[in-house]
Amino acid sequence: MKMNVLVVNGPNLNLLGEREPEIYGRKTLRDLEREVRAHAHKLGVRVQFFQSNHEGAIVDELHRLRKWADAVVINPAAFTHYSYSIRDALLAIALPAAEVHISDIDKREGDFRKISVVRDVCGHRFAGFGFASYTKALDALATEHAARKKRR
Ligand code: DQA
Repeated sequence: MKMNVLVVNGPNLNLLGEREPEIYGRKTLRDLEREVRAHAHKLGVRVQFFQSNHEGAIVDELHRLRKWADAVVINPAAFTHYSYSIRDALLAIALPAAEVHISDIDKREGDFRKISVVRDVCGHRFAGFGFASYTKALDALATEHAARKKRR
């Protein structure tokens, strides 16, 4: 299938592997990107990865790749809970999107983690499946993309 997916990771995910390994595991962002790329390859989907600790940089990247991408997989990390600019960027680019989290944010400490300001602007959500949250998101977006193409 001809499909391009932008995979965005937010703040502190560059420290995967050493950051709170009891929650996020011992594998690195590199490992994550390798696993997602391998899965995308099986689906025939092209992926580009972007990670930033800066809210505006994430907004800029969503804008920059909006014409290239057919869909977005995004783990906004802590920005999930309060970034209206990332929420608005997702609305602005109007691409099918999946919100993903490594941990199950609904079952964790802190009421703030249960709040997601991007939830209702993403058609899919996968949380608590570790890195598989990302591959499940790719599956869902690829299925949606194929269905949309058929309709046309
Ligand atoms: C996270 C969950 C967020 O609450 C947290 O701020 C993160 C990572 C996850 O992938 O589980 O940085 O998005």
